[in-house]
Parts: sequence; structure tokens; C-alpha cells
Amino acid sequence: MSSDISICRYLDVERTPRLDEEIDAIFFEASNTKSFESDAARSAFRERWLGRYLRDDPQFAYLAMSIAGDVVGYLVGTIEDPASRPSTENTIAAFREVTKRYPAHLHVNVARAYRSSGVGGRLIDTFVADAQRAGAAGVHVITSAASANVRFYNRNDFQEIARAGPADALVFLARALT
Ligand SMILES: CC(C)(COP(=O)(O)OP(=O)(O)OC[C@H]1O[C@@H](n2cnc3c(N)ncnc32)[C@H](O)[C@@H]1OP(=O)(O)O)[C@@H](O)C(=O)NCCC(=O)NCCS
Repeated sequence: MSSDISICRYLDVERTPRLDEEIDAIFFEASNTKSFESDAARSAFRERWLGRYLRDDPQFAYLAMSIAGDVVGYLVGTIEDPASRPSTENTIAAFREVTKRYPAHLHVNVARAYRSSGVGGRLIDTFVADAQRAGAAGVHVITSAASANVRFYNRNDFQEIARAGPADALVFLARALT
């Protein structure tokens, strides 16, 4: 039940190796990429989608915790425009015009056993409130247009703004905060 789950700030939770392992386990289980050509490739993948957010923007990281103290979901985010980073990936470059209006962005994952009970929505609400308070004009996510999570984002007031990539397979979903 979602009400048995607390949404905590990452900075308020004691940082233990077990905590990091639990976050990593959810990240790798939820990721579409399952095999890596090397440990370095696996680390770079984690760094791109999770590690740098925890390190550089821990104030915008949140954990969903069970009563027993297990991590069952997380959200990492930032209010910085990703297109303003010096080493911007191709994906972001394709959406450069729209990230200006919706600079904040996030990555959210919930452990399989806890999905579809509102945990992801609560994580989004918490980040959106903080991003709005911090003055972000808007927030976006980029996902596969065919993914089941598009409906999740639509329900959380993210609307399609643009598409890009081969066969327009990537969708930019955004929500205005001002
Ligand atoms: C997408 C996700 C974060 C949503 O969290 P959640 O706690 O399940 O979401 P909520 O309970 O607040 O909202 C439920 C809605 O999420 C969507 N959803 C449910 N299971 C999903 C799944 N396995 N994958 C994608 N979306 C899913 C559905 O639209 C669902 O609505 P429904 O139950 O009426 O069908 C979570 O399902 C998840 O981690 N999925 C796999 C990884 C993923 O897609 N992450 C987002 C990367 S961009």
C-alpha cells in the first residue's frame, strides 16, 4: 500500500553501503540496458542516469522507503537545463530549444513489487514542489514514445511537447511550473 511508504529526502537518510546497493538494484532492474561490455561501461551508464545526480544535486533526490526501512523507489533530478552542460548528449541536443522552457528534469524508478500504487506519483509531486519553489520554469522527461511510462507521466500532468530520434521514437514530455 502506498500509505505504508514514506517519501524521504536523500539528504535526510543515513548514507550506508546498503542504501546505495538498494538504489542501484532498483536502477539496474528498471533499466532497459541489461548487459554491459565491461565494468567501466556499467559504471559510466550508472553515472549518466543516476550517479551524477546523487553527487551534484542531492537536494533534488528522494527515496521511497518501506516501514522496514528498505528503499522501494527513488527519484533523482535537477533544475539545471541539461542543454547547458558542456558535454551535452545527442539526445538532449535534439531537444535544445524546448529544454530552455522546461529545464528541470528527473529520473524515477520504483521496485517492481511496489508499482502502480501511487509511489511514483508521490515522488514526482515532491520533486515538482521543490523545483517550483527553487524557481524552475518547467520540468521535463524524455522517454520512449512507445513506453508504458508515457501514460504515467500524462497522469502526472506532463504533456508531449516534441519528438526526436530515429522514427521520432523519443518523446519530450513537459509540465510548466510558472
Ligand atoms: C514509471 C514508474 C516510475 C511509475 O511509478 P508507479 O509507482 O508505478 O506509478 P503510480 O502508481 O504513481 O502510477 C501508476 C501508473 O504508472 C504506469 N505504470 C505502471 N506500471 C508501469 C511499468 N511497469 N512501467 C511503466 N509504467 C508503468 C501506469 O500508467 C500506471 O497507471 P495504471 O496503474 O492505471 O495502469 C514505475 O512504474 C517504474 O519504475 N516503471 C519502470 C521503469 C520506468 O519506466 N521508469 C521511468 C523511466 S523514464
